[in-house]
Amino acid sequence: MTDTPTTYALIDGRKVSGEIKSEISAKVHERKLSGKKVPHLAIILVGDDGASQTYVDHKVKSCKEVGFHYTMMRFADTISEEKLIKHIDHVNDDEDVDGFIVQLPLPAHISVERITEKIRSDKDVDGFTNHNFGSITSKNPLLLPATPYGVIELLRRYNIPTEGKHCVVVGASRIVGAPLSMMLAEQGHATVTLCHKYTQNLAEYTSKADILITAVGKPGLITADMVKEGAVVIDVGTTRVEGPQFKNGYAIKGDVDFKPVAAKASYITPVPGGVGPMTIASLLLNTLHATEKRNP
Ligand code: GUN
Repeated sequence: MTDTPTTYALIDGRKVSGEIKSEISAKVHERKLSGKKVPHLAIILVGDDGASQTYVDHKVKSCKEVGFHYTMMRFADTISEEKLIKHIDHVNDDEDVDGFIVQLPLPAHISVERITEKIRSDKDVDGFTNHNFGSITSKNPLLLPATPYGVIELLRRYNIPTEGKHCVVVGASRIVGAPLSMMLAEQGHATVTLCHKYTQNLAEYTSKADILITAVGKPGLITADMVKEGAVVIDVGTTRVEGPQFKNGYAIKGDVDFKPVAAKASYITPVPGGVGPMTIASLLLNTLHATEKRNP
């Protein structure tokens, strides 16, 4: 035994997201040249949650970068569910809008399920509706949930095989963990273990993972003793931690105790700069796909 640390490779989500944006930008340019419709994304933001505002700003900036049209719709957090649904119906019927999202979380008096199901599935570029969610297991998936799609795309572009591998997903949310586990099994041909808040002895499962994906939102949850030597570690956690030691008063932290885990991993994503930028790249890809379907 030597005590030389494993050399790991950093999975650079910013770089891959930049490549995907360049590919999308070229396609938008081609569409413009041949007189086809330019993709149009609408974004609905309710309230003034700081983190949501930051995510939405990134989405708007990315639309500008790739040449998409965009519409930003903001509403006070006092808006009623009925009123918000009226706005959603309006966007559903707007022929110029190819795709739209309602940024989450929503205020407590509004039902996320009810709102999500009001989104027309062919414009649901977050891939959140039951119709798109269910299509993951079909031969022809429709609009895939953006963050899981980003994770799959990162693995694909880094030539990390999933077929026959044991993927352990920690966190069973409807936005990330649940759809991602299905996608890894269906499209990635992986053996999947889905862990959640009721899982007993989490380390027993994580330490067996060839590919460990965590999407919980608890900084420091995954420590080095929970990870197998040579594992691929994908950190979807994004928690805003406040403190005077951070520039701007806060830092974004993943679920993984980065340095010690990186020393055991073969590949690892940083936070920020790993999965985060891929969510936006997938949103843009979905919007392009929705546009191509509506206006070939
Ligand atoms: N809030 C956190 N992540 C997401 C996302 O991917 N889409 C939307 N609409 N809201 C979010």
